[in-house]
Amino acid sequence: MKDLCVIGVGYVGLVTAAGFADLGNRVTALDINEERVRNLRKGILPIYEPGLEEVVRRNVQAGRLAFTTSYDEALSKAEFAFIAVGTPEGVDGEADLRYVRDAAESIARSMQGPLIVINKSTVPVGTGDWVSEIIRSHLPKPLRFAVVSCPEFLREGSALADFLNPARTVLGSMDHEAAEKVAQLHIPLRAPIVITDLRTAEMIKYASNAFLATKISFINEIANICEALGADVKEVATGMGYDPRIGRQFLEAGIGYGGSCFPKDVKALAHMASVQGRNPQLLQAVMDINEDRMRMVLEHIESLSGPFGRKDIGLLGLAFKPNTDDIREAPALKIAGLLLGRGAAVRAYDPVAMDAAARALPTLRMCPDPYALAEGADALVVVTDWNEFKQLDLSRIHKLMRTPNLIDGRNIYEPEEMKAIGFRYRGIGRGYDGSDAAAKRPADKARPR
Ligand code: UDX
Ligand code: UDX
Repeated sequence: MKDLCVIGVGYVGLVTAAGFADLGNRVTALDINEERVRNLRKGILPIYEPGLEEVVRRNVQAGRLAFTTSYDEALSKAEFAFIAVGTPEGVDGEADLRYVRDAAESIARSMQGPLIVINKSTVPVGTGDWVSEIIRSHLPKPLRFAVVSCPEFLREGSALADFLNPARTVLGSMDHEAAEKVAQLHIPLRAPIVITDLRTAEMIKYASNAFLATKISFINEIANICEALGADVKEVATGMGYDPRIGRQFLEAGIGYGGSCFPKDVKALAHMASVQGRNPQLLQAVMDINEDRMRMVLEHIESLSGPFGRKDIGLLGLAFKPNTDDIREAPALKIAGLLLGRGAAVRAYDPVAMDAAARALPTLRMCPDPYALAEGADALVVVTDWNEFKQLDLSRIHKLMRTPNLIDGRNIYEPEEMKAIGFRYRGIGRGYDGSDAAAKRPADKARPR
């Protein structure tokens, strides 16, 4: 049993704290947000994440997990301190590191013995060295410490499973002994452990997220071509995916990627490249294609239901993906904002993310269920591929709508079945025979270079 402290109890921090406690360590999780800590002590979680509540409760009851706002308390016995504070998008896409700096300074002021500081937040290449400098310059008395980069690869909605079954653990440090000690903590996870230098570990995180985002933008570009030529992008992805060099994962065409990671991490990596005088051509294209998805959705809605004025458009899903309440960079909010800006009335339904979305976009009308959402709507857009949307009574939805226009932004329905029910249906990259008007949407405008 090791003594750990986790700083920043958000999506990554809370899963990391609960996960390591569940592996038998004693974990003190710190957050500057007093209300969040008060609630966590009462077993109230700040986020929706399947299975997490039970693991948190079990480990609090076992005395292996505790919450605090005090650095002195959190670091009193700690041998390891994980930094998992937010690194939101800053100016020009550069990652904003002020919270990482605050955490590093507070660690220096409160550490009481030798300590291994582990960067879990996604931080630009070189941040590990910077954190070392901050700690060294704020230490009240000489104390041994080392900084290790240990990027997180968990996905929201399956965070606990991803933490407990990682594809690999990546550790980067100039202090090999410290990296070995952190490796010991991860042994119970039985995954390959990559030990490298700080900068390379930090780059592995960015390159991994950027590559996954590139796969998504690639298949979305292929979807555009499939629409024009009458091919089925889902079958194209399956056919491609059998090749282990390609892989079927992250080839789901749709309305683009959102969330707290891909948008900001691709931007931050492009920014890092530009600052070094490297032209991030591919990364720029990945972002351009993703942004274009919004324009595509509006064109589909307009070509089906006409001008937006006084039209009632329903959004099925608000969260940036299923099984989470996270709406950060959610495509739904961007689409809703564009539609409201064009004079449409926008209503929405989501199993768990409506409260957060209502705070972000008060003009959005929330509906208690998908059927209330469909009642009198001129068009529906599937934005988040929640499982419950796949089991809807579609004939009932069809009857309830004012005009049965449906844009399936996540390809959860079968085009022929939808058309048989009577929907004017638009999928993404499938369901077009290359000749129908739908596939003939305005040519993509070449982007000014
Ligand atoms: C984290 C990483 O920060 C981000 O780099 C990575 O891309 C995704 O995972 P996330 O867990 O989603 O982000 O962050 P968030 O949910 O915003 O939680 C951060 C927590 O840190 C919040 O609870 C916040 O109150 C806390 N915090 C922030 C501190 O405790 N101290 C600070 O100085 C700043
Ligand atoms: C991502 C990475 O997967 C994870 O490893 C990293 O630690 C954090 O960032 P997350 O943002 O939680 O995780 O969600 P993810 O499942 O990757 O989905 C990101 C976005 O891409 C979502 O909006 C999703 O709808 C979209 N997506 C995903 C697609 O459009 N097509 C796909 O094939 C996969």
